[in-house]
Amino acid sequence: MEIAEKLIRTHTLTKEEALELFAQMGERDMAARLAQEAVKLRQSHYGNKVFIRGLIEFTNYCKNNCYYCGIRRGNGKVKRYRLTEDEILECCDSGYELGFRTFVLQGGEDPFYTDNRMTTLIKRIKEKYPDCALTLSAGEKSREAYERFRKAGADRYLLRHETADEKHYRILHPEEMSLAARKQCLYELKELGYQVGAGFMVGSPGQTWECLAEDLVFLQNLKPQMVGIGPFVPHHETRFAGEPAGSVELTLFLLSVIRILLPKVLLPATTALGTMDSDGREKGLAAGANVIMPNLSPMKNRKQYDLYDNKISTGEEAAECVDSLKSRVESVGYRLVCERGDFAGE
Ligand code: 5AD
Repeated sequence: MEIAEKLIRTHTLTKEEALELFAQMGERDMAARLAQEAVKLRQSHYGNKVFIRGLIEFTNYCKNNCYYCGIRRGNGKVKRYRLTEDEILECCDSGYELGFRTFVLQGGEDPFYTDNRMTTLIKRIKEKYPDCALTLSAGEKSREAYERFRKAGADRYLLRHETADEKHYRILHPEEMSLAARKQCLYELKELGYQVGAGFMVGSPGQTWECLAEDLVFLQNLKPQMVGIGPFVPHHETRFAGEPAGSVELTLFLLSVIRILLPKVLLPATTALGTMDSDGREKGLAAGANVIMPNLSPMKNRKQYDLYDNKISTGEEAAECVDSLKSRVESVGYRLVCERGDFAGE
């Protein structure tokens, strides 16, 4: 328990300390103690607000072949789609109507959406909705591309690092991808003035305690404004089909630890967490999360953005259901708000 108290006092963990914390994780009340502190910190920076982001999954074409992902290039079984610019704008229209003031454009690395097309799209969205924040989550691009997107009006960028451990990275990704490139993208995005989101899956195949300790060290060095973590969920058309899913409990524990390491971070209770546990998102909030990202994609395409098996898409995580989401969030003591919800730090 001493190591937990040290984390609470100093808001830092070395790799060795992280390993010590994990080794003691089973100790009585440790998770509860960290969650209590995490909630206190979130409360002091953001009050009891929970921010909502409208997630628009604009394409499931992807030129990458990440072994864990259901929409990887090598999966010939997935029905591919891409939204047109007009369809994306319509998603924003209905999202705006529902009260969303942040739109997240997430997609595979789709060569159709060239830097030029992306730039045009970003400008159109920001012209129509200048009061909204625009978040991109479209993978690795050149520094020039990131710079153009930023100038066109993009405010934030989500790019999970997936794992900070080189050997683990190689288990999850084919040879043509690299952890160094991934990290470089994240640092470039920060330099260009984006609010940046990194993150990883919990319990992905080959992940050890050492990997998770590396992830925490990496996050402390990068200091992202957002961190997305969720349990790994196997997808039946991948080489990891038979692997066990990641643990909800460990995900919650890590949410608390990340809140303590980066007190002002924007921390979503993710869809994967909600998929693995029907109360996963509420539990995420109780562990220190403060963001929920309901799905704004057109109903007809939702099933096709099939990152992992049983991904929820039409229940309370659906944007059409903000009202019921609101009452669920309020029933556990929070307030679902419609503001842009920018990072509270510098
Ligand atoms: N289980 C859980 N999360 C996954 N992602 C991709 N595949 C899976 C999976 N099988 C996550 C990755 C990616 C994000 C968009 O979805 O971390 O960054």
